[in-house]
Amino acid sequence: MQDYKTTIITSIREETPGVKTFTIIYEDGSNIPYTAGQFITFVFTHHGKEERRSFSISSCAVLQEPLSFTVKRIDNGAYSRLLTDRAVVGDKLYTTGASGLFTLPQNIAIYKQVFFFAAGIGITPILSLIKTLLHTQPDKKVTLIYSNRSQEDVVFYNELQALTEKFPDNLKLEFLYSTSFDLSRARLSKALVPVLLQEYALVPKNEILFYICGPFPYMRMVIWSLEEQGIHDDQIRKENFNTNDRLVRKIESPDKATHTATIKYNGREYSFPITYPDTILQAAKKIGLVLPYSCEVGRCGSCAAICTKGKVWLSYNEVLMDKDLEHGSILTCVGHPVYGDVTIEI
Ligand SMILES: Cc1cc2nc3c(=O)[nH]c(=O)nc-3n(C[C@H](O)[C@H](O)[C@H](O)COP(=O)(O)OP(=O)(O)OC[C@H]3O[C@@H](n4cnc5c(N)ncnc54)[C@H](O)[C@@H]3O)c2cc1C
Ligand code: FES
Repeated sequence: MQDYKTTIITSIREETPGVKTFTIIYEDGSNIPYTAGQFITFVFTHHGKEERRSFSISSCAVLQEPLSFTVKRIDNGAYSRLLTDRAVVGDKLYTTGASGLFTLPQNIAIYKQVFFFAAGIGITPILSLIKTLLHTQPDKKVTLIYSNRSQEDVVFYNELQALTEKFPDNLKLEFLYSTSFDLSRARLSKALVPVLLQEYALVPKNEILFYICGPFPYMRMVIWSLEEQGIHDDQIRKENFNTNDRLVRKIESPDKATHTATIKYNGREYSFPITYPDTILQAAKKIGLVLPYSCEVGRCGSCAAICTKGKVWLSYNEVLMDKDLEHGSILTCVGHPVYGDVTIEI
């Protein structure tokens, strides 16, 4: 059984109408460990069923800030409404901790500039990443292109303005408002991305790292446009908040035979058979072993693990990059052992 930890809400701040930031600590008063760009996953019961929701962390660990996350109320949303309408300071929330791969890469030194594209509530992990870069990487230029309906909808407007005043040489900000009368600087489009790149890029394109977070069509448009500009896949990181629109999986595993998985997790080893179409995560659940997960559709990265022996086939993958796959990274929620037994470390 996976251990859930109890956290306590220590403060709640309204950012814009329907958007609130919650600060939490563990029940014993200690801070929750996290890294900029990660998200925290909460477990709750809805109509008698255990459910999970993840929220990107908006605070900055290198500034010793206790973990905060920022939630946008979704009209018919089960958990976002519970948090934004009903939660009060002192309430308990149950978490499996912070995870995620939308973080600064180990090879950050090779990049001279970091370009962020955020839309709406997609600013949450990006604020944390920007603050981390500004405070720890004084040689990096940071650019944020942040899209919203209007200035009133900009989450963290004052905090972002204060950062540009504190770091005028390193941070450049452009707010785009879809309701703006100046249509050339309103909604971000495939045509506007290269214009902004031309205007703000201070180094050759191959020395820029890109982060994108916003609604799915927005992210797809930015990625297409960047790729058209010759930006390599390895230079682009993306975080997808909406994992509900599950895709119909048409591809089938190349090997549907039963294989044994040995999972090394929390200092213990578990071995059990897996038969297609069960994923590694589903088969583990069947023997009562709850491994880390959130979206269960290959889109968030909570269930990332390393395959140290054998081969795992992924039916879908929106988070692991080619380099991660080459190093044996897998996603247990969409992973199936193929052509033999596997060993997986979490
Ligand atoms: C890695 C990750 C990070 C995230 N970070 C944040 C964050 O920082 N802040 C934040 O507010 N949310 C964030 N989310 C989204 C969050 O986890 C929930 O999906 C969202 O709050 C809706 O949950 P709900 O229970 O209220 O809605 P549900 O009851 O799950 O869904 C209700 C309705 O809303 C639609 N819906 C569900 N999720 C979304 C969405 N994200 N956008 C639009 N429509 C949706 C559904 O299709 C459904 O019709 C993140 C998600 C992931 C996977
Ligand atoms: S649980 Fe989200 S990618 Fe596997």
